[in-house]
Amino acid sequence: MNHTSDQPGDLGPSAPAEIGPTGRPLPDFPPPGPPSGRPAYVIALCNQKGGVGKTTTTINLGAALAETGRRVLLVDFDPQASMTVGLGFPAHDLDATVYHLLMHDDVEVSDVLLKTRTENLHLLPSSIDLSGAEMHLVHEVGREQTLARMLRPVLNDYDVILIDCQPSLGLLAVNALTACDGVLIPLECEYFALRGVALLKETIEKVRQRTNFDLTIIGLLGTMYDSRTLHSREVLQTLVDGWGDKVFHTVIRRTVKFSDATVAGEPITEFASDSAGAEAYRQLAREVLVRCPGV
Ligand SMILES: Nc1ncnc2c1ncn2[C@@H]1O[C@H](COP(=O)(O)OP(=O)(O)OP(=O)(O)O)[C@@H](O)[C@H]1O
Ligand SMILES: [Mg+2]
Repeated sequence: MNHTSDQPGDLGPSAPAEIGPTGRPLPDFPPPGPPSGRPAYVIALCNQKGGVGKTTTTINLGAALAETGRRVLLVDFDPQASMTVGLGFPAHDLDATVYHLLMHDDVEVSDVLLKTRTENLHLLPSSIDLSGAEMHLVHEVGREQTLARMLRPVLNDYDVILIDCQPSLGLLAVNALTACDGVLIPLECEYFALRGVALLKETIEKVRQRTNFDLTIIGLLGTMYDSRTLHSREVLQTLVDGWGDKVFHTVIRRTVKFSDATVAGEPITEFASDSAGAEAYRQLAREVLVRCPGV
């Protein structure tokens, strides 16, 4: 059967799809529909390697999801408090943080919650105090479930909860992995980034067997990608060879706009709304929604 059409843009069924940066044909991600209305889908952004784009991705994916009308809660679960600072809050000057929620049964999420300047985007802030939490939690009953317990009362108030983890695989990370439905692993497009992923996978596997049976890996996200270097392209190719479709089609390119947005205390979707970086995170949001049906 011949496919003939005069429609502009209709290239017919055999039109070759554009090849994306990961070397695979780039699918069309549908525009997001309305939120499902189910209890929040919880995503932990986790990688024990430092400086790979966890915080940048949490803020900007969160803001891009908020733009779709979803109610988004960001949880800063890192004593460095980069996300808290990156959203314009004085981490050293806050009376109540996620640390107080973890430590005191009478503190509620609403006592700690901050509204960011972005609509639909709320934050549970962190501070350096959180670095002492692991030591205290060790002696608790159900110590791995502390964060999950803390978030349970607000699951119906949000569509998505994103947890920004610290660069470690300690008890705080295990709490985040236990509290979430899925893990998103940001990775810098650089050779050494690949080395830690096997260890992270092992930890995720252990958590799945012991404290969170339904835990899934949503995907691995290449960040700080530079299309001009063969190196960046090779790292992505190696990632796809090892992980196949678990690798997001979306990649985040390297640009100074992200640091500039952090200094301004805003997500890139607001700081430079038309920039390629903002568009990349909007595409990531669409891809996450395809991978996590019911969000
Ligand atoms: N795509 C990008 N292009 C350029 N710079 C980026 C990009 N993504 C993040 N950065 C910058 O790299 C640095 C590290 O990023 P980020 O803080 O998001 O990483 P992280 O994994 O959260 O680090 P940590 O492990 O310390 O928590 C920051 O200065 C950030 O502004
Ligand atoms: Mg961080």
